[in-house]
Amino acid sequence: MNYDAIGAAAALIARKTGRPQHRVAVVLGSGLAGYAASLQGAVEVPYADIPGFPLPRVEGHGGSLFSAQPGKVPVLCYSGRVHAYEGWEMDDIVFGVRTAVASGCHTIILTNAAGGAGNGLRPGDLVLLKDHINLASRNPLVGANDDRLGPRFLDMTDTYPRDLRAKAKQIAADAGVELKEGVYAWFLGPTFETPAEVRMAGRLGADLVGMSTVPEAIAARHMGAKVLGISLVANLAAGISPVPISHEEVQETAVAAHDRFTAVIDGLLKTLE
Ligand code: HPA
Repeated sequence: MNYDAIGAAAALIARKTGRPQHRVAVVLGSGLAGYAASLQGAVEVPYADIPGFPLPRVEGHGGSLFSAQPGKVPVLCYSGRVHAYEGWEMDDIVFGVRTAVASGCHTIILTNAAGGAGNGLRPGDLVLLKDHINLASRNPLVGANDDRLGPRFLDMTDTYPRDLRAKAKQIAADAGVELKEGVYAWFLGPTFETPAEVRMAGRLGADLVGMSTVPEAIAARHMGAKVLGISLVANLAAGISPVPISHEEVQETAVAAHDRFTAVIDGLLKTLE
C-alpha cells in the first residue's frame, strides 16, 4: 500500500499550488478534459511533476492537475485519468483520488463518457450515477488493508449520496441543464461491450456501461469522501446503437456537450463548500 507516496504527492501539490488544502476534486473523463482550460486563474501541475503519479497513455486524455478557487473553497481538477485497460495496477488508477482526499478533499466528482444501455438514455445526455455494478472483477482494496486509509470491509450502500445528487440536480436546473440518473456498470475494456454483454448489464440493472470511475469511487469512499458521478452518454451501447462504436464518436459527443457539462461542473465548484 502506498500511504507515504500519497502523502508525498499531496505535499508536493500543496507546495506547487500554494494552497495547503483543497476541498473538492473533479476528475475529467474522455473528451471532457477541455473543461480545465476554462478555470480562471488555475495553477497547473503536470502529472509528470508529481512523484508516483501515473501518466495517461490514451489519445484524448490530458495529463495535468489544476488548482483553482472558483467559489467558496479551493478545488483540484484532474485533466486526464488512467484506466485499468492500459495495464495499470489498481493502486495507480486510484492514486489521484487518494491524493485528492489526502489533500483535504471531502467530495470527489468523477466524470466519464459512457455508453447508454437503456432507460431511454440518448447520446449527449448527462447522467448522475446513483449506484454502480462492478463487472470488471477488479477492486482497488484487494490486498493488505492500510487502516490509516480506511476500513477492511467497506459498506457501499451510500456511495453516491442522495443529498449530494439532489444538490447537483438543483445546480444543473438553475443553469438550465437536465441531469438524469442511472446505474453505471464497469467493464474492464478496452474492447467496447458485445451486444450480449450490454443486454446482460441492462437486465442486471445498469443504464450505463463504461471503463472507469468505479475503482476511484471505491477508493474515495474507503477514505471517507463523498462521491458524485456524472456520465456523459457518448453513444448508444453496442446492440442498441445501429452503428459500430468508435472512440471518435465518443470524443465528438463529448465536445458537443462541452457547454452543458461546463455549466454543471462550474455550478458545482462555485457552490460546494
Ligand atoms: N462502452 C464502454 N465505454 C464507453 C462507451 C461504451 O459504449 N462509450 C464511451 N465509453
